[in-house]
Amino acid sequence: MPDTASRLTYRRPQHTDLAVVFAIFGDPQTNLFNPSGPMTDIAQAESLLGRWLQHWATHGYGWWAISSAQTPDKVIGFAGVAAHDYLGKPVINLGYRFAVKAWGRGYATEAARAALTHAFDHLGLPEVFGLVRPDHEASIRVLEKIGMRRFGELDDVPGKAPSLVFRVQRAK
Ligand SMILES: CC(C)(COP(=O)(O)OP(=O)(O)OC[C@H]1O[C@@H](n2cnc3c(N)ncnc32)[C@H](O)[C@@H]1OP(=O)(O)O)[C@@H](O)C(=O)NCCC(=O)NCCS
Repeated sequence: MPDTASRLTYRRPQHTDLAVVFAIFGDPQTNLFNPSGPMTDIAQAESLLGRWLQHWATHGYGWWAISSAQTPDKVIGFAGVAAHDYLGKPVINLGYRFAVKAWGRGYATEAARAALTHAFDHLGLPEVFGLVRPDHEASIRVLEKIGMRRFGELDDVPGKAPSLVFRVQRAK
């Protein structure tokens, strides 16, 4: 877990996060650029949370539940690095999703930066990728602010423009 002075606190997700996972991932506003749309059933949140917990159990890291340091009991978002595949290519992917009320304060940038620091300095991972829809300017901005650069494209949404792939490598 990040231990630097931070406005945010990070912890491993737990089963009791189910309601807040569904609240954040089921909010249409947090899925405006998600081709799959918001979750519509709590079973989908249960499935996602189950995958996160399984990833933690297998790899010892994964998506964090994130709170403001001032209200550590209130989860405002989820972010982290985790194993993923880009149309069959295994990668370590950076992801983030925050409650709408928490937007616009630099939290996603702070959490994403913490996730990269964790990935490189603690986990020793060589590179991290990010995948974003081409019109999602706020998320592209977050990736750019943390030093990720355009790496390529992924044609992962049939009939739509390809997603943009970003990458950053561990400093040598
Ligand atoms: C995308 C998201 C993570 C951003 O969270 P956030 O905490 O508001 O992000 P930050 O404040 O750290 O940074 C956002 C940056 O994008 C900029 N931005 C916001 N909306 C923008 C827009 N419509 N066009 C261009 N830039 C925009 C902000 O100005 C800021 O850049 P700046 O610091 O240079 O001013 C948040 O909106 C979210 O959780 N969305 C839903 C989930 C999601 O889309 N996840 C990413 C999937 S790829």
